[in-house]
Formats: sequence, structure tokens, C-alpha cells
Amino acid sequence: MRRRWPALAGLTVLVALLAGVAAGALWRLSAPRPAMTEADAASLEGGNAVNGRRVFNAAQCASCHASTGQTDRLRLGGGYALESPFGTFRVPNISPHPADGIGSWSAVALANAILAGISPDGRHYYPVLPYPEYAHMRREDVRDLIAYLRTLPPVEGRPAGNELSFPFSIRRAVGLWKALFLDGRPIADDPTRSVDWNRGHYLVEAMGHCAECHSGRNLLYAVKANQRFAGGVDPSGTGFVPNITPGRIGRWSVGEIAEVLSSGRTPELRFVGSTMADVVANMRELPVEDRQAIATFVKELPARPTTRP
Ligand code: HEC
Ligand code: HEC
Repeated sequence: MRRRWPALAGLTVLVALLAGVAAGALWRLSAPRPAMTEADAASLEGGNAVNGRRVFNAAQCASCHASTGQTDRLRLGGGYALESPFGTFRVPNISPHPADGIGSWSAVALANAILAGISPDGRHYYPVLPYPEYAHMRREDVRDLIAYLRTLPPVEGRPAGNELSFPFSIRRAVGLWKALFLDGRPIADDPTRSVDWNRGHYLVEAMGHCAECHSGRNLLYAVKANQRFAGGVDPSGTGFVPNITPGRIGRWSVGEIAEVLSSGRTPELRFVGSTMADVVANMRELPVEDRQAIATFVKELPARPTTRP
């Protein structure tokens, strides 16, 4: 017995060391990795607010950030409560109000929130702000979006914070999720496809975040690649969002898909409701060629069977 003591003590020290190393490695892995630094500041100034408005609509910022209890979608006072299996997220004020919104934020700070899900004080945002998709946005479009956001009316008031259950309330853990699932590469054009398809690909995957609602998810709540666009449970758990691949809507023409985006009317002569009605409120503000491009991309998605919940 006596002789095993030193060995046991050694083992305990080793285990403790390993746990420390593992914790240290996890801590480092979960560190915030900004997409832009002060060196990029000049490249984010002088944006074109007209194109920025187009980005704002394609990315549907107003669907979540418009002040609750009023109809002006350009008053971005926040307050909307997003229910999820982890608790309630409360959408912040991103109007240019200097104290309650983003009025005093630098362009670099804003770009890091949108592209990398990182706050000005270096903390992670939850991917409910769809930065896993926005991360693919071209830097010029982010610059223009920032210019547009700064033209909107300042709104007073700070909504209450999130109400999340433990351990989901630990923001640092989002860093591990990012290490597993965040791919910040900008979307490259595919020269074998049409101009329309490439524009649609970009609008859908970097801005429209259609996959965030229309896909199946894994246990860590990331979109499953083989169920992308194949339908999935509504993130708030209230229903099933339909499959929009040709596996289900293969008979719909590009024009019919574009019609859903402009008026909400499907070829089955039904009007889309629920959160898709908000999507349409944004899509109909886009130039007709953008809706056409999105429809072209959707029409050519790989056919997938509907994901069963
Ligand atoms: C699906 C809903 C949703 C959409 C769409 C959305 N956001 Fe957000 N946004 C959120 C939520 C929720 C948070 C807070 C996340 C958290 O607490 O970690 C947030 C946080 C932010 C923040 C940080 C604000 C702060 O006070 O810390 C900024 C900036 C922001 N969003 C900008 C945008 C812009 C710009 C767009 C459009 C390109 C956009 N968001 C689209 C839900 C959304
Ligand atoms: C916030 C969640 C959300 C986002 C983002 C979203 N959708 Fe939807 N979508 C829905 C829901 C929910 C429905 C079902 C609405 C209904 O039937 O009333 C729907 C329905 C549709 C339909 C009609 C399908 C049918 O069978 O009736 C099409 C087409 C569609 N969406 C395309 C898109 C495209 C393209 C995008 C991206 C530009 C997108 N959606 C983004 C939630 C979303």
C-alpha cells in the first residue's frame, strides 16, 4: 500500500495537469476572433447607403430589430422576444441612438458584430443573430450596410436582456460552437453557373439566411449540411418550416418562387404566413432582379426529401 502512494499522487497530479491543459485549450479555442481590426477602419467608411438599404432588406435586419408595438420597420429599437429551447433572446436596439443603440459604435465594432458575432467589449453573441450566414458577406456590402444603418432614426430605450437557462447563459461557450460550425469565408462565384444563380447564391447564403429556418439541425443546434433547405422545426418550436428544395416544390417555376417572395402567394394560391410573412415584407423591397436571382438559386437547389422532425 505504502509504495502505491507516490504513484497515485503522481497520477492525480498528472490528471489535474491534463484537465488544466484541456481547460486551457478549450479556453483558448473559445476566444473571440474578430473579423476586422482597427487597420480595416478606413475600408469601412464612406459606404453607399443606397446599396446598404438593399443589403438591409436582403438580410432582413428589421424582422428582428424593429421596435415592438409599432409598424415602422426602420425604427430599430428592438425588444422582440425570440423563444428557443435555451430560453428567451431579447433583440437589442440597433438604431443610431448614441446611448441606447449603436450610435457611438465604430464601423469596425459594427462589422465584427455582423460578421463574427463579437461585441465591442470582446464577448460572443449567440448565433441567433444570424452571423453564421452574414459571415459570408462581401466587405463592401458590410460597409454600405453600416452607412445605411447610420441614416435611420435614433430610438430611445434599451430592451431587457436575454433570459437563458444555465449552461446556455455562458457566452464564452459560444466560442466552442463557433470553432465547430462558423465558416467565415466569403462566397466565391462559380464560373460554371449563370450570373443569376451566382447572385442568388450570394443573396441566400450570405444575407437571406433562408437556411436558418428551412433546415434540420443537429443536437448542438447547427444546420445539418444534408438537411439544408429540406425543412425543419421552427426555432421557436411552434411548427414545421417547409422543405424548399425541388424534393418538394420541384414543380414550381422560377417565376412562381419569385412570386412567393414579392406577394407571398404560392402556386397553390395560398398566402404564406407566420415568420415567412416578415421575410416577404423585406423581399418585396428588393429590386425584381434580386428576387429572380434568389428564385433561380432555390429552383436549382439539390433535391432533398423532407426532414422529418
Ligand atoms: C433572427 C433575428 C435577427 C436578425 C435577422 C438580425 N439580428 Fe441582430 N441580433 C439579434 C439578437 C437576438 C441579438 C443579441 C444576441 C445576443 O444577445 O447574443 C442581436 C444583436 C445584434 C447587434 C449587437 C447589438 C448590441 O447592443 O450588442 C448588432 C449590431 C446587430 N444585431 C445587427 C444586426 C444587423 C445589422 C442585422 C441585419 C444584417 C441583424 N442584426 C439581423 C437578432 C437578429
Ligand atoms: C424566419 C424564418 C424564415 C426565413 C428566414 C425564411 N423562411 Fe421561407 N418560410 C418560413 C415559414 C415558417 C414558411 C411557411 C409559411 C406558411 O406556410 O404559412 C415559409 C415558406 C416559404 C416558401 C413557401 C413554401 C410552401 O410550401 O408554401 C418559400 C418558397 C420560402 N419560404 C422561401 C424562402 C426563401 C427563398 C428564403 C430566404 C430568402 C426564406 N424562405 C427565408 C420561414 C422562413
